[in-house]
Amino acid sequence: MFDTLSPAAADPILSVVEAFRADARPHKLDLSVGVYRDVQGQTPVMAAVKAAERALCEAQASKSYLGLAGNTAFLDAVMQLCLPADREAARWTAIQTPGASGALRLLADLLTATRPGLTVWISDPSYVNHAPILRAAGLQVASYPYLDVASGSLRRDALFDTLAGLGPDDVLLLHGCCHNPSGVDLSLADWQRIAGMASRQGFLPWVDLAYQGFGDGVEADAAGLQILARALPQLLVAYSCSKHFGLYRERTGAAMLLSRSAASAQRVQGKLFELARRSYSMAPDHGAEVVARILASPALTQQWHEELDGMRARIVCIRSRLADALAARGLDGERLRRHKGMFFMLPLSPVQVEQLRAEHAVYLVGGGRLNLAGLDETRCDDLAVALAAVA
Ligand code: LMR
Repeated sequence: MFDTLSPAAADPILSVVEAFRADARPHKLDLSVGVYRDVQGQTPVMAAVKAAERALCEAQASKSYLGLAGNTAFLDAVMQLCLPADREAARWTAIQTPGASGALRLLADLLTATRPGLTVWISDPSYVNHAPILRAAGLQVASYPYLDVASGSLRRDALFDTLAGLGPDDVLLLHGCCHNPSGVDLSLADWQRIAGMASRQGFLPWVDLAYQGFGDGVEADAAGLQILARALPQLLVAYSCSKHFGLYRERTGAAMLLSRSAASAQRVQGKLFELARRSYSMAPDHGAEVVARILASPALTQQWHEELDGMRARIVCIRSRLADALAARGLDGERLRRHKGMFFMLPLSPVQVEQLRAEHAVYLVGGGRLNLAGLDETRCDDLAVALAAVA
């Protein structure tokens, strides 16, 4: 039956992780998948998460099914964390999803069910899984200018020129903060301008918020999303708890949707439940219950904030050290200090990326994305030497 199946394409991120694991060189550096690592090179379980898990183990009386929405205490808590406090609750719908990838797919399925053939505009470049998820759901994918790779800056004029042509059959996918793969974020004035264009032209914005707290802080990183949520009648949000709660493998996320009316929100909710039920039925509860418990407890919330602030500070420190190390080797790393979050992008050709892997045991995602959160401060010089060697 399966003999004629064509071979699957290698995953552009996870295949690099596999190759890294198979490399026996002791000085190898994995800067591929977007996970945070501490000074020991570990991706730790956050102490607030451990504490919530212990309490959960003790108190949980049943593992019976929750409803199709998933863990509603979790949904209320994460909506509180990223949406405006004064939102009109009846117009918002949320459903727990297996990570933000699950939210992206579910919302893409909803768009196809609502109006087949819509075009979703993604940034150039964007998260490598955006286009495959959207296409798999039957949507058209187009890209809007975003990053000037050579200078590491936003192509603002070209971006807004493209957005000026969008209309009611277009959906605009934006990175809420810490743009993946570049770390180049929109300014608050850009978010305001997009809100104005969306309300005049009728296109539908969709925010993917996967790194809240890794840019400027939990509140500040939701500011762009909140500008849209206050200004627009309709909005989509794909939300991830993988990074800021360190719950990667628990697949903890949510799809949120703002509708024009409470009646429309009810219809959307029913459709989301139907689509989820036909696909994976219900999202796993463990990570969601952990997040709900942390955010319900002032002490655990404070502990979580402190741990997250520590992770963000460490990444800022690595950015600064690597910028200095690059400058010492005649390379321009100043953009490292301006950009936000885990990722940094260099104008590297596929040949240079391969050279870094083969000759220096440095593993990046193709396209030149480096995960700075995977870099140990003591290896900044090694990385700068390798980058200078292939420059
Ligand atoms: C990444 O971009 O490296 C992360 O979002 C991990 C993933 O699931 O692709």
